Amino acid sequence: MTRHFLEVDDLTPDELEEVLALASVPAGFLPRTLEDQGAALVFEKPSVRTRNSTELAVVALGGHPVYIQGPEVGIDTRETAEDVARTLACYHAVICGRVLDHRVLVRMAAALDAAGLDVPVVNLLSDRAHPCQALADLLTLRQAFPDTAGLTLAYIGDANNVWRSLAIAAAMTGIAFRTASPDGYGPGPEDLARLAGLGLDHLVTTDPAGAAAGADALYTDVWTSMGQEEESARRLRDFAGFTVDEALLARAAPHAVVLHCLPAHRGEEVSAGVLESPRSLVWPQAANRMHAVRGLLAWLGGARPDDDGDLP
Ligand code: CP
Ligand code: NVA
Repeated sequence: MTRHFLEVDDLTPDELEEVLALASVPAGFLPRTLEDQGAALVFEKPSVRTRNSTELAVVALGGHPVYIQGPEVGIDTRETAEDVARTLACYHAVICGRVLDHRVLVRMAAALDAAGLDVPVVNLLSDRAHPCQALADLLTLRQAFPDTAGLTLAYIGDANNVWRSLAIAAAMTGIAFRTASPDGYGPGPEDLARLAGLGLDHLVTTDPAGAAAGADALYTDVWTSMGQEEESARRLRDFAGFTVDEALLARAAPHAVVLHCLPAHRGEEVSAGVLESPRSLVWPQAANRMHAVRGLLAWLGGARPDDDGDLP
């Protein structure tokens, strides 16, 4: 059965470890699982990190990335998501999409499965999830801390796509998780049930200082995500007090690090001082996007770590 990657828990915890092990292998040592094959990268929203990291990862695996902007293919306007997927599968070994509506990726994967086409769909960010980001986040945490199991990660901000994938990744790797969001922007009952089902040790609060207290890592994301621009003024008001700034970082453990998926809005979800401080891992985190997606694409293409769990 074709394996798609629409959310982190499309992998089992063991498979997640395999992907992370492959992501830690230098590019030239991975099998070229995309040799002479295409990779469709469909973007309905802008990107700096995701497009560039995925293109370079495809090249490192011997493949040819084709970047396609949303209006060119016109998903569900020019033709259906199903027809777009089946057409791209005529040329490409993998279809990666950054979409406005997560259900488009689900429909694409279902259409390929129904047609018996062995082409994985990879989520490069939807309104619901950003699983490739979460892979890079795990890599970054593991570079900073020898043992991430039992670590406490505090997410301060909007319980949106990046938060959801990060929380799922935390659940699958034994990281204790705290979520601090203003009223109305926290996790819903469905998310809480899903995360509880995955065994997440989870504190949910509206108090950022309480969430940050003693935490090993603080994480934040923009207050206004792509597609929510008309809510920006209201969100600026509602998220006041949720900036990851020097005062909040001082509540965390003395060794605490700061992560942010980027793009950052200095003075909103993060202060300029914290973002640029030695405690900030945002640049290695951005670099890890490429290693993470290279490991994922290699895994989807059949590569596995050897018995020692590292080099294939
Ligand atoms: N973090 C992230 O996904 O960045 P881009 O939107 O620039 O791809
Ligand atoms: N939550 C943000 C993440 C950007 C990488 C957004 O969806 O715009």
